[in-house]
Amino acid sequence: MKYLIVFFITLSVLFSCTKKVAKDPTLAYSDLALLDSINNAGSNYYKNNPNILAPAGGSPHGNFKLRFNKIGLNALTNSGKLPVGGTMPDGSLIVKDVYDGNANITLHAFMYKKSGSWLWGEIKPNKEVLYSVTKNPSTCTGCHSQPGNIDLVVSFNLH
Ligand code: HEC
Repeated sequence: MKYLIVFFITLSVLFSCTKKVAKDPTLAYSDLALLDSINNAGSNYYKNNPNILAPAGGSPHGNFKLRFNKIGLNALTNSGKLPVGGTMPDGSLIVKDVYDGNANITLHAFMYKKSGSWLWGEIKPNKEVLYSVTKNPSTCTGCHSQPGNIDLVVSFNLH
């Protein structure tokens, strides 16, 4: 009987914890949730160019294609670029699909605008997290602050 009570208490604690976690709004911005958003962002390629591009400006990422989600795409009002001095709106997702020599995607480097600032991350298509959005993004922002950036996006200047 004692064990049965302990069992039910454990069960109810576990259940209420699960419920709390499921309601946590920050979960919507976890690496895996953002991978879903990356997969659902569609094929809105930068400058409508579906070709693989070569890196520039000291980029560490390798050959890539650049995509935006709909919210991000709608902000590109200066001939397909963000106007100088402009900022991308909340909910913007910028995905850099990095390709290997066999035209396979090796990783997605991405920026997601939340409450006025970017979340930065890198994740593989197989869900392996290379750079979590919960990590300090100074590695990314240090280089993305280079001259010519617009709202820390550097492709508008380099490509
Ligand atoms: C040493 C410089 C450097 C570092 C560090 C760096 N990037 Fe970049 N990144 C670039 C450059 C340059 C581009 C422009 C595209 C290109 O030529 O590769 C770029 C492009 C991007 C883009 C497409 C949007 C844009 O700004 O053009 C994303 C998304 C991105 N990087 C994510 C990241 C993330 C996430 C990190 C950190 C984990 C990171 N980058 C670290 C240099 C850097």
